[in-house]
Amino acid sequence: MRDNIAAGNWKMNTTIAEGTALAAGLRKTHPKSCDKVILCVPYTHLSAVATELDGQGMISLAAQNLSSEESGAYTGEISARMLADTGAEYVLVGHSERRTLFNEDSSILSKKIDQALSHGLKVIYCLGEPLDIREANQHNAHVKAQLQDDLFHLSADQMQQVIVAYEPIWAIGTGKTATPDQAQEIHAYIRSIIQDKYDPNTASQTSILYGGSVKPANAKELFAKPDVDGGLVGGASLKVDSFSAICESFGS
Ligand code: PGA
Repeated sequence: MRDNIAAGNWKMNTTIAEGTALAAGLRKTHPKSCDKVILCVPYTHLSAVATELDGQGMISLAAQNLSSEESGAYTGEISARMLADTGAEYVLVGHSERRTLFNEDSSILSKKIDQALSHGLKVIYCLGEPLDIREANQHNAHVKAQLQDDLFHLSADQMQQVIVAYEPIWAIGTGKTATPDQAQEIHAYIRSIIQDKYDPNTASQTSILYGGSVKPANAKELFAKPDVDGGLVGGASLKVDSFSAICESFGS
């Protein structure tokens, strides 16, 4: 069966010293109920956090972004090959902050996904609707179009390397969380779309995380839903106590 995953997205926060201390603190906790913990850290922290984690245990490392290009004259960009070289195993693609603040559309996102996979990085693919789309009850059509445009050029084999993170934009950093029922409904829908495109096995193997104001106080209820396989956590992943409590929020 698919993994239960707690992923922390540090965004543009922490110094290298603060980040390695956070990773060291998390390393000392041994969450029993969760299959995998992933830390999505700033580029500058990857090597130091990789050294801190030492390739041991259940904590994996992710980058928050990558270039859509292979190599060459792209000043300031970081390639998939460079990321793999740091010890990162995963990379976030399609986060709503990248889509809205940096104008990343499906033509860029699909190239980023291909770059990641071709260099052996697994992808945490984010999608989700803005508030007006939710209020117009168009959220299912919105996420279906995102999947089709960004992700569905992949083969079923490549899909094994992808974790999906549903993050309604209206819930990110707002303190407003989707209810567990809202999350379950759209996660089940996303899984059904994956099944329609691929097959039942691919759909049931794909971990689908919920993101948007996940906290220790709401994680248990969200993760109890059958199609919610964990969380992508922003603010609450910046403290050992709150993130380790979220990591312990699976099961009964
Ligand atoms: P948040 O962020 O938990 O602070 O809402 C989630 C995310 O953007 O991944």
